[in-house]
Amino acid sequence: MASTEKEIKIRPMERGDIDAILAVYSKIREEKIPGVKRSRLSYRGAMTFDEVASTNPGGPLDLSCVAEVNGQVVGFIWGRLAFVGIPIDEVGIIHMLIVDPDYQKQGIAAKLVDALAERCHARGVETVRAVIDERHWELQNYFQGLGFHRSELTIYTRTSKD
Ligand SMILES: CC(C)(COP(=O)(O)OP(=O)(O)OC[C@H]1O[C@@H](n2cnc3c(N)ncnc32)[C@H](O)[C@@H]1OP(=O)(O)O)[C@@H](O)C(=O)NCCC(=O)NCCS
Repeated sequence: MASTEKEIKIRPMERGDIDAILAVYSKIREEKIPGVKRSRLSYRGAMTFDEVASTNPGGPLDLSCVAEVNGQVVGFIWGRLAFVGIPIDEVGIIHMLIVDPDYQKQGIAAKLVDALAERCHARGVETVRAVIDERHWELQNYFQGLGFHRSELTIYTRTSKD
């Protein structure tokens, strides 16, 4: 086979892809996150059909894409448009980026990020944002390599009920 890359197809995610992306997610779920010491963040929790479906893949705010190789979903980027801040700004938020370990290191994630960015640009949205754990330095380096920079925003988190 001449090149695997030629067979990679990136397309918008549809509701019918949810089972396939859950299967990809389940493959990486038990993997330890490189660079992150053993903690509750070192392993990923379960993800359900309803959680993904609730963000309405294919809907007006959705930016998610899947990567297919020979018709099989091998990776996905899950993201959506959001309206944040004062004055209000429209940004593309990346919730999750995952590539099947059997297909990693072929540039598939980079293609997925580019596809999401293109979908943003096509709607006149010029900012793409990813929230990355401060301890996950490998992922930070990876995103910097894709042109992301560390922003001046700080995320504040609290429980929904005091
Ligand atoms: C992070 C993740 C999505 C990257 O997926 P990927 O498809 O392997 O990413 P890419 O192929 O674009 O790049 C990965 C590396 O392979 C390299 N690479 C890209 N194309 C390559 C090729 N053809 N041959 C060899 N290496 C290549 C890239 O330079 C990059 O190197 P770096 O890590 O030194 O920067 C994947 O590792 C993953 O699913 N991780 C687990 C889930 C996770 O942590 N997701 C992110 C938070 S939601």
